[in-house]
Amino acid sequence: MLAAALRTGATPVRLAAVKAASQLDIADVNPVLSELVGDAKSDTKVRVDALNRLASSKDAQLDAALELAAKDKAEPLRIAATSIRAKSGKGGAVAPLLAIISSGTVGEKQNAIATLGGLAGAEADGKIAALVTELADGKLAPELQLEVLEAADKRAAAKVKAALDQFKALRKADDTLWNYRMTLAGGSAASGKKIFLERVEASCARCHKVGPDGGEVGPVLDGIAARQTREYLLASLVTPNATIAPGFESLIVVLKDGRNFAGVAKAGGADEVVINSPEDGVMKFKKADIAKIQKGQSAMPDTMINVLSKRDIRDLVEFLASLK
Ligand code: HEC
Repeated sequence: MLAAALRTGATPVRLAAVKAASQLDIADVNPVLSELVGDAKSDTKVRVDALNRLASSKDAQLDAALELAAKDKAEPLRIAATSIRAKSGKGGAVAPLLAIISSGTVGEKQNAIATLGGLAGAEADGKIAALVTELADGKLAPELQLEVLEAADKRAAAKVKAALDQFKALRKADDTLWNYRMTLAGGSAASGKKIFLERVEASCARCHKVGPDGGEVGPVLDGIAARQTREYLLASLVTPNATIAPGFESLIVVLKDGRNFAGVAKAGGADEVVINSPEDGVMKFKKADIAKIQKGQSAMPDTMINVLSKRDIRDLVEFLASLK
């Protein structure tokens, strides 16, 4: 039944069949899985899962399948092959990774650096230290910075630590984005969109519209990439109070009689201050009645950095940067 499902089923059925073969440890279907790995017409995810299953069951055909996968057109399949080879711990795991780091696609390079970070040994230490030095010298592609820093953080070798220190010394005291600059490029817009629409802890779409759907508390984000830089988009996420989108400034109006009201500032006459208060709607105050006006906090939560990983943030920046 599994073999039939793998051969003729629709993609979701095939994915479930590979999963069943893995969980029940049924090796009889491995020949069909080998076929799938080599079948360019099948869904890429099916082929990746099939390859991973051949690896976990230590199938005799694994090496042949890896050979095919490493040369395939589909990037995810090449990436899976690289990871499996490196993790198999056979000698010479580092050299192929170095080749990919110098000539692969961005996705392959990111994966190869992350994989290298998990391999023990002085050769890996040396390459990671060299990558951190490239970063410090401003020569590393921005898309690879997060992987390089994550890989470096995992190493105990003195030369990696020294290179990291050299990089950290570049930090300017007033650079509030320093800890997140490695998320400016290299994300996946598709993953970012998924986080934007579906991640409950962030609930971006509760306050922002992209296309027809979304809330209205925050600015509409369609076309934001045509108006703003990646750096601005990143700052909106990690330090929302640093710059407030025009038309969304919050004010706290303190009256001479002691009462105070908070809301988003609106245009008004020369002798008045107007705010749109979430509780009370549009309110007008005579300047003569006002004791002081304070800047309020952004209505955009400043807690995103607590609920999102750097990878999530990088994917969100990539998604926002695609909204042209
Ligand atoms: C509770 C409501 C709320 C949530 C949730 C929220 N935002 Fe915002 N966001 C705002 C408000 C209000 C502003 C305008 C004030 C400001 O610029 O700080 C804003 C500003 C922005 C801006 C700058 C827009 C511009 O035109 O300058 C971006 C980009 C943005 N948010 C992205 C996001 C993303 C991505 C998420 C999810 C991770 C998110 N927001 C979640 C309310 C929210």
